[in-house]
Amino acid sequence: MIVLGVAGGIAAYKAALLLRLFTEEGHDVRVVPTEAALEFVGAPTWEALSGHPVATGVFHDVPRVPHVRLGQEAELVVVAPATANTLAKAAHGLADDLLTNTLLTTRGPVVFAPAMHTEMWENAATQANVATLRSRGHVVIEPATGRLTGKDTGAGRLPEPEAIHAVCTQVLQGRGLDLQGRHVVVSAGGTREFLDPVRYLGNRSSGLQGYALAQAAVARGATVTLVAANVSLPDPAGATIVRVTSTEELRQAVVEAAAEADAVVMAAAPADFRPDTLVGSKIKKSHDGTTPVITLVENPDILAELVRSRTGKAPVIVGFAAETGDENGTVLDHARAKLERKGCDLLVVNDVSNEQVFGRTDNEAVILGADGSARPVARGPKIDLAHAIWDEAVQRLERPSPLP
Ligand code: CTP
Repeated sequence: MIVLGVAGGIAAYKAALLLRLFTEEGHDVRVVPTEAALEFVGAPTWEALSGHPVATGVFHDVPRVPHVRLGQEAELVVVAPATANTLAKAAHGLADDLLTNTLLTTRGPVVFAPAMHTEMWENAATQANVATLRSRGHVVIEPATGRLTGKDTGAGRLPEPEAIHAVCTQVLQGRGLDLQGRHVVVSAGGTREFLDPVRYLGNRSSGLQGYALAQAAVARGATVTLVAANVSLPDPAGATIVRVTSTEELRQAVVEAAAEADAVVMAAAPADFRPDTLVGSKIKKSHDGTTPVITLVENPDILAELVRSRTGKAPVIVGFAAETGDENGTVLDHARAKLERKGCDLLVVNDVSNEQVFGRTDNEAVILGADGSARPVARGPKIDLAHAIWDEAVQRLERPSPLP
């Protein structure tokens, strides 16, 4: 059984969607709103969606002692939204309603998804309470940045229900949130280099692996910037998406985000070349048998630039290599040489002979480390490979996490 605590914030309505995500998976969910939460979303909504009566105080259904039982029976308590007030009460062990009592009695994992105005989130009191809760092993998800209740924007938005659900799933599976407090950058998709307003040179990258990496990192607690080049997949919840078209745009977006990052994974397939001129109007057929000649110039190598500009406390840099074996060596021979040439920390090697990768939802790879390690990942869903890549990257993170 999962306890969904709902505190009194405007984002309480999003908790109804989170509740649905849990119940659709077959979880039994008991909703415990605060009095203030019912000002935003009424009890009938929670009762209808969860199939259980709700109460805010401890003097309801007393013979069943809910203020103790709910906490004891919960495999997970998640509070979404968690207001500054509820975080403060939880940090100080106050127990003046059913939710705070439940938080005191549970011995299972607790996840808080804060939502409040930026000033309240950044206030020293709130930050101290968050640090206290984290030091006790509770998970406090970083709030998203964006539009708040009014026209103002800033840190303090409730993360999307799918992102909170992903973190809860990770916690329920007993997997660690080893990327909490980390900022990671993932590039995905394939860049396009335009010849004229309608034609471009492109490649077959679907973006599936990069999106799986972003999704896995969100579930492990990271703040994720996903730089997406021409990907037509649904946005992964919880990641900040920067859309780009060309290799130069990809370069700018990745380099800018990498400045503050703990890890950068270059899963995108940037075009290595672009036409030396972009023709302003559509190139026409000549009708005299001559054909246009396209001269290509080389694009910047983004991975190489990231490696070159590394200073002391640098992000872990992960590259991808799509390889085929030939008379000069096996797939792994070429990959080892590329890892050395590129100078990154990890290289994820796909064997692309026989159409084995593009657009498929599964993948198989070997993750090579600059330290000589080689981790084969058997064919499986791209999300499994994504987690294996993060497992390897986490071991190589240099800077200490900013979180306690
Ligand atoms: N990459 C990059 N910038 C480019 C091209 C590639 O950052 N202009 C990154 C890719 O995202 C990938 C890695 O480099 O992570 C390997 O790409 P690949 O095209 O296989 O490498 P190349 O250097 O082009 O190697 P090759 O000699 O096989 O062409």
